[in-house]
Amino acid sequence: MSYNNILYSVDNSICTITINRPDKLNALNKETIAEVGVAFASAQKDETVRGIILTGSGAKAFIAGADISEFSSFNLEQGMALSAHGHDVFNSVENCTKPVIAAVNGFALGGGCELAMACHMRVAAENAKFGQPEVKLGLIPGYGGTQRLPQLIGKAKAMELLMTADMLDANEALRLGLVNYVVPADQLMDKCKEILNKIIAVAPIAVAEIVHSVNAFYAKDMNGYETEIERFGACFTTDDFKEGTEAFMNKRKADFKGK
Ligand code: COA
Repeated sequence: MSYNNILYSVDNSICTITINRPDKLNALNKETIAEVGVAFASAQKDETVRGIILTGSGAKAFIAGADISEFSSFNLEQGMALSAHGHDVFNSVENCTKPVIAAVNGFALGGGCELAMACHMRVAAENAKFGQPEVKLGLIPGYGGTQRLPQLIGKAKAMELLMTADMLDANEALRLGLVNYVVPADQLMDKCKEILNKIIAVAPIAVAEIVHSVNAFYAKDMNGYETEIERFGACFTTDDFKEGTEAFMNKRKADFKGK
């Protein structure tokens, strides 16, 4: 698959998806969002991929939002269609059964902050900045931001950021729990790989069941506790469970096959 707006590579079981429109600060136009959807579907399907890093090209921006030039003349139906498509793609990121880390290397604004929030974890470079500036355009976030920001940082602070359009620097984002770590820019990718390599060493199906169970807590049509019971039970049917327990008993390192 060739892409116009993203770079896609796989190295040592880690897939890196890079939004590649640096002259537009990696703003998400419609084609880029569709390509993100295709890239995540490919990474999900590729058995050699065990973890995913999402980042932006250039030193200035992760993603500076949805591409404002594309929707300036939109009407009700077009606005809803734009949002619904973004929701589908961002939900596929959130529900990816392999760990997904956003390597936030600069501005993460609007749809950029929303895409980072759809990832399972976020690591920020010291120069990262987060914000939902849509109200300045007469809009609200349309790619899940009104839902995921309160989940991550609580309702009161989310309300404040969504209404004021204030930006957070990386350390404030860390303090609020929006990001997992803040590191110098030149250590950003290594930190993401360090986290993913820990996850790559454990049982892949168990990791997938963590994604299902944690996400079920936030899904309106699911009961997270019931989901955990089902998914916990399902783990007992896997070869990985047999391997993990046998390896523990025999004091050896487990060799998980994801089966
Ligand atoms: N949509 C479309 N183009 C964007 C964009 C966006 N969200 N964000 C940045 N760009 C483009 C700029 O138009 C500019 O293009 P040009 O060189 O062809 O004029 C280029 O990216 C560089 O941006 P610029 O504004 O010159 O950089 P800056 O360093 O002065 O400011 C920001 C950086 C991030 C503060 C500023 O670009 C900005 O506010 N962007 C919009 C953020 C936003 O509102 N996002 C939510 C959208 S719903």
